[in-house]
Amino acid sequence: MNEMTQTPAQATPVLPDAQTVTKVTHWTDELFSFRVTRPASLRFRSGEFVMIGLMGDPDPRTGRAKPILRAYSIASPAWDDELEFYSIKVQDGPLTSRLQHVKPGDQIILRPKPVGTLVHDALLPGNRLWFFSTGTGFAPFASLLREPETWENYDEVIVTHTCRNVADLEYGRRTVEALRADELIGELIGDKLKYYPTTTREASPTVGRITERLRDGSALADLGIDGISPGTDRAMVCGSLAFNHEMKEVLEGFGLEEGANSDPKHYVIEKAFVD
Ligand code: A2P
Repeated sequence: MNEMTQTPAQATPVLPDAQTVTKVTHWTDELFSFRVTRPASLRFRSGEFVMIGLMGDPDPRTGRAKPILRAYSIASPAWDDELEFYSIKVQDGPLTSRLQHVKPGDQIILRPKPVGTLVHDALLPGNRLWFFSTGTGFAPFASLLREPETWENYDEVIVTHTCRNVADLEYGRRTVEALRADELIGELIGDKLKYYPTTTREASPTVGRITERLRDGSALADLGIDGISPGTDRAMVCGSLAFNHEMKEVLEGFGLEEGANSDPKHYVIEKAFVD
């Protein structure tokens, strides 16, 4: 067989919707973030998610491979030239067992159809915006914290992040820290930002689940806030299903109602996807 008659199986595979990895940061044995090129045609609202993934192994019977895709919040803001993602590493997970090994220059698949409810359009105007997250649920807030609209629309922005250990907070802590130095965002922030990280399995300045600290009043006392009310407060929630469920109860206990793109209200909720 000469080169002209080479079969497709022998040719270098061309991935559909391929994007190139530009940077990878490993935060812990279980957490990493990475950046990829952005398709020129991709428009999204800060806080939305897309499907990303890798090609699976070829089916031994047909010889054909299918993509393994999962929903990932875009962790970079809508204005960024590249796209950032924040992920756990599950050692036997179909996607993250492999995705954790990507390096700059590698390709991933990205379906350019952004969707999601953690967007400004799904909230009514308010004075104070809360971002409540656990684990990799911080990702959409990494996007929204770098979105000018967040700072233009609110007098106060409070970001809470609950993780098991101190090292799990690092990606969020660095993102928050970098905001003040950001060319675009730094000036808008002023003294509007409050960052409230808590750990549940390791000692840190603030220990305990945010849900418990809201119920017993200690989070509000620490933050110097009298109460949460539908007249002033708006919230976005992103974490595990159990966390989201409890936060829904807590926020509704304060009288907030859940909104959607088509029906903006006081709070919105979305599951942190890959688990
Ligand atoms: P905990 O250590 O008490 O389970 P995970 O790593 O399991 O996704 O959890 C991330 C963080 O979210 C942990 O600090 C965990 O606390 C916390 N968490 C898990 N479930 C809930 C919940 N229902 N309400 C509040 N926090 C939760």
